[in-house]
Amino acid sequence: MRNPTPNSHVDTGRRRFLKQSAAGLAVVSIPNPLGGVSADDEFEVVHKRVKLPRLPRELRGLRIVMVSDIHSGPYMSKDDMDRYVARINALKPDVILLPGDFVQSRNEEVEPVCDAFVKLRARHGVYGSTGNHDYFDDADYISKELAHAGVRMLRNEHTLIEVKGKELALVGLDDVRSGHPFDSLFRQAVDGLDSSLPNIVLCHKPYYLEEASEYGAGLMVSGHTHGGQFVLARVFGTVITPAALISGYVEGLYRLDATQLYVTRGIGTVGIPVRFNCPPEITVLTLV
Ligand SMILES: [Fe+2]
Repeated sequence: MRNPTPNSHVDTGRRRFLKQSAAGLAVVSIPNPLGGVSADDEFEVVHKRVKLPRLPRELRGLRIVMVSDIHSGPYMSKDDMDRYVARINALKPDVILLPGDFVQSRNEEVEPVCDAFVKLRARHGVYGSTGNHDYFDDADYISKELAHAGVRMLRNEHTLIEVKGKELALVGLDDVRSGHPFDSLFRQAVDGLDSSLPNIVLCHKPYYLEEASEYGAGLMVSGHTHGGQFVLARVFGTVITPAALISGYVEGLYRLDATQLYVTRGIGTVGIPVRFNCPPEITVLTLV
């Protein structure tokens, strides 16, 4: 089911980050005994070409830039986010998608996100959905603040982007959690949506490819896994990480029938503020 990535490449241009631990200690790179890159001092821009079902000619080439799992807080400062925003804007996005986990755990952590993300620029807008960490405090407050900063939060609803007279549907789900199953959020989100339109679904957790396929989703974009955050190795496209014990959808592009799922590694961290063999990711999806 895993789709190898023939239509992708990774920018080698990377930026150094200097992370400060709570104790004031710098966390820079960690040697990777398995070879390759790794730690919390770099990010990658990953480019993918995605064949979206029912995509009209007018929408071909649409460039979607995506960042998830920001985790604003002690280990993701406004300066860090400013640098990400500059890099994202330099990619000249048509659409920017932000599928959740804006904050680590507190409402006030959204303020630096807003101060940085208000400068995001995309021809057809900036769209977001909530992640599980956005519910640690008050997801309604966080969503309203982001809206004031120009992020159109899609909370179990959809919107249409029009390009040269043709429409693309963006469908956003709140974090799927106890009492709020995928089915009911999805049904609410697509109520009134013309099913003949191409669609992209924002759903923070990537666990629902089978359900998304049953409902005819074209492409679902997710984060949540942080790509495993600690990756022991990559073997023929399979990521060896403890996170894979929870779900097989860890990073990259997956397909089930006509539905694809892209899982981005995100840019932030949880727990120990370090990534190992798993750099932060800005994703560029080009629709074809
Ligand atoms: Fe996260």
